[in-house]
Amino acid sequence: TGLQDNTSAKRGFWSSRLAFILAATGSAVGLGNIWKFPYITGENGGGAFVLVYLLCIAVVGIPIMMAEVLIGRRGGHSPVNSLRLITERDRLNPLWKLVGAIGILAGFLILSFYSVIGGWALSYVGTSASGQFTGQTAETVGAIFSGLLSDPVTLLAWHSLFMALVMTVVARGVRSGLERATGILMPSLFILLLVMVGYAMTSGHFSAALSFLFQPDFSKLTTSGVLEALGHAFFTLSLGMAVMMAYGSYLPKNVSITRASITVSVMDTGVALLAGLAIFPIVFANGLEPGAGPGLIFQTLPLAFGQMPMGSIFGTLFFVLLVFAAWTSGISLLEPIVEWLEEQKGMNRTLSTLVAGLTCWLLGIASILSLNLWADVAPLGMFAAFEGKTVFDLLDYLTANILLPLGGLLVAVMVGWFMSKQALQNELSLSAGSFRLWHNTLKFVTPIAVLVVFFYNLS
Ligand code: PFF
Ligand code: NA
Repeated sequence: TGLQDNTSAKRGFWSSRLAFILAATGSAVGLGNIWKFPYITGENGGGAFVLVYLLCIAVVGIPIMMAEVLIGRRGGHSPVNSLRLITERDRLNPLWKLVGAIGILAGFLILSFYSVIGGWALSYVGTSASGQFTGQTAETVGAIFSGLLSDPVTLLAWHSLFMALVMTVVARGVRSGLERATGILMPSLFILLLVMVGYAMTSGHFSAALSFLFQPDFSKLTTSGVLEALGHAFFTLSLGMAVMMAYGSYLPKNVSITRASITVSVMDTGVALLAGLAIFPIVFANGLEPGAGPGLIFQTLPLAFGQMPMGSIFGTLFFVLLVFAAWTSGISLLEPIVEWLEEQKGMNRTLSTLVAGLTCWLLGIASILSLNLWADVAPLGMFAAFEGKTVFDLLDYLTANILLPLGGLLVAVMVGWFMSKQALQNELSLSAGSFRLWHNTLKFVTPIAVLVVFFYNLS
């Protein structure tokens, strides 16, 4: 379906629903699912946090994803121009274009540290392939990881390589090939995660992991944990920074925005939960600390790879697929900045990519140093909310917990309160009941949820 669609014919390769799903899934599924979800779940005590996160996906994430895709398809251009067209055509306040600006700032800040973690994954490809995990203990695997973190030069080399991978694709504007590869590599990642879960079921403490992940203990839930769950819903679905708007502009008119958004969200959530089910049985079987922090997957999975048959091969494959997932997400973070430089500053694509990519790369060095030389530097430590937060922690907090929910809040208010219901229904063609459910959620539930969580954390 959609092959002869007018929009897609004019705007390139985006000829079907599948192509949108591939690109949007490529952006959504990444380090957020496999690296971040397990470690913040561990830090926040498990079940209750997972429940709030799932609730945020359903009540905040999916409605906002639909709204972003809708704006993109209705505008039919890059996010900044789509927002301009819609504010003009629907006579809205031009300030709504701020959503695009928040997106560009957030993308820039996220990519700077995302690339550093992408570098960890790259370095683990080599470590697995050379068989260094075989037969290791929790201590020695931990030592390999701390060895990496303590070495700024090695971290810089991997960060540079990851950023170069992202910049190469963006500069050449050749996303379509990579997105087609998503159709093969994402299912492979999924299957490999299933293998890991299978291994964890037989050799790890699987039932301890199940109850950790799915038995809510609300005494462990803090207000900052709720903010983190909300922020992570935005981060993991690539929301609040106009990425889904950009992809929506390529979606043919006859494709259901609702179904496409739900499909992407379900796949993203599925990958995160599988990652949790693969990692926590290993955590409990080896007496590790669930709240070990950002190193969690790098200190647990290698243990499993070191013990299972053909572990070096599985391990190498796993980290290759993780790099790939991070790569497609990294591209979706850089792309809007480059488009913005092209459109607003009149730079050509190569130059925009160099300017944006190198600035991001430079900022990434601050995150690298905060893992070693600056590990005790807390730039905003005088404020209680930021006590003990390094540069890396601050960038993560500011983007995921503040900028993305803020961007999402603006989208929800703009679409829910200011766009004509008729225009919205024309895009969605839902039944009256489903439309009302979506519209009221966006109009009331989403903004109230975001504002209440903000209020409790920032007051
Ligand atoms: N969704 C990506 C992940 O879960 O790894 C990260 C991300 C990509 C966030 C693109 C925001 C974005 F615009
Ligand atoms: Na994700």
